[in-house]
Amino acid sequence: MSSAVKTLNVGMLGCGVVGSSVARLLKEDSGDFAERSGAHLTLVKVAVRDLSIEREHVPKTLLTDDALSVVNDPTIDIVIEVMGGIEPARQLILNAIKNGKSIITANKALLALHGAELFEAADKNQVDLYYEAAVGGAIPILRPMRESIVGDHVHRVMGIVNGTTNYILTKMDEEGRAFDEVLKEAQKLGFAESDPTADIEGHDAAAKAAILAGLAFHSRVTSSDVYCEGISKISARDVAVARDMNHVIKLLAIAELTDKDQVSVRVHPTLISRQHPLASVRNAFNAVFVEAESAGELMFYGRGAGGAPTASAILGDLIAIARNKTRGGEGHGESDYADLSIAPIDDVMSRYLIRLDVADKPGVLATVAQLFASHNVSIETVRQSGRGDSAELIVATHSAPESALKKTVAALAKSDVVKSVESVLRIEGNSK
Ligand SMILES: NC(=O)c1ccc[n+]([C@@H]2O[C@H](COP(=O)([O-])OP(=O)(O)OC[C@H]3O[C@@H](n4cnc5c(N)ncnc54)[C@H](OP(=O)(O)O)[C@@H]3O)[C@@H](O)[C@H]2O)c1
Repeated sequence: MSSAVKTLNVGMLGCGVVGSSVARLLKEDSGDFAERSGAHLTLVKVAVRDLSIEREHVPKTLLTDDALSVVNDPTIDIVIEVMGGIEPARQLILNAIKNGKSIITANKALLALHGAELFEAADKNQVDLYYEAAVGGAIPILRPMRESIVGDHVHRVMGIVNGTTNYILTKMDEEGRAFDEVLKEAQKLGFAESDPTADIEGHDAAAKAAILAGLAFHSRVTSSDVYCEGISKISARDVAVARDMNHVIKLLAIAELTDKDQVSVRVHPTLISRQHPLASVRNAFNAVFVEAESAGELMFYGRGAGGAPTASAILGDLIAIARNKTRGGEGHGESDYADLSIAPIDDVMSRYLIRLDVADKPGVLATVAQLFASHNVSIETVRQSGRGDSAELIVATHSAPESALKKTVAALAKSDVVKSVESVLRIEGNSK
């Protein structure tokens, strides 16, 4: 490398799980990074809340509890935001952009809420805003969508984008255990937070679904556009029934273009066939499956979280930005020209699996079938198993709109022959 090589100063907001790995890799691999990017990348300031905590890879002299001093420092070229949360992260990033700094963030919650504002500010100030780590941790998925397949028409993106829920569902499937028991174990092993709500209720996956949908369909999609159901109601029986059908239950983030050219974006537990590539994604791993007109099917797989995997994606962004700065030019901005509307969940078509506890007497099946037919929901298969004076009916439907299914379920719940509607789950894929 030439001796006239540039130095680019890097500031970081946050030094927790992800930030400390970024600091470590910047220290350990600085020589390689300089060769790869054409610039010496030097960490010069790191904002944290608690200055008294020892940070193994960051000298005390670099630490500050004044995050504004990082984004206002005229010597800093690039700011890495790994503090998380909405405020003050949003305002700090906007300030840094106004001050001409390029940004890297791993903050999916912020991007899914305020992406439009941040991308517009970056565009206006001609700086880069990169965020590969925000979806799928180490998995390169956003840059391939922004660059490699941007010349194609994406029809659908389906992802397992939350490691905690995938770990829990894998254990339920493989070991036949109950949700609460596996959640407790996941918390003990560090796969789930002490407050697991954002993961198990699907909010974390919803933020990622919004980001993926926006990129796939060149439209602005925010987390409030995402229909979201978590996995906390999934029972061991649901998992066993799926297994009997040669399916597995996964929490899927699905973004697709409807027949009316609207964007349908949703997160919910879904039965997928064991033959589907996503069915083999086990434990805390993540994967994103993309269906595009010319490319066909693509799958991206890897570690969706953790300090080092997430830092890998951040350093990829850092080197990409450094290359832009040393060779001139900017990275690719976001495009939202398509301006598509969001499909209401009631219009979304899906197949369903409905599990009913019914009275075990003659005529029940006919009554249940009639309730489905009267709401134009066509039955694909029915299985019945006796349990004393009760029976379990497992009904799989052909594709039907969500609104019709909801009416059917409401009618079933009121029917004299149905003791309870035990569960309603969506099935991915077309009927055979
Ligand atoms: N962890 C993962 O595997 C993962 C994966 C992908 C994306 N992400 C995203 O990466 C971001 C960081 O996650 P993390 O797991 O590294 O979080 P974390 O371990 O909680 O670390 C947060 C860091 O930010 C600092 N901080 C928080 N608020 C601050 C404030 N107001 N001023 C100054 N510093 C502040 C904290 O300081 P103290 O240390 O002093 O408390 C801490 O160092 C989040 O947006 C998250 O969604 C994380």
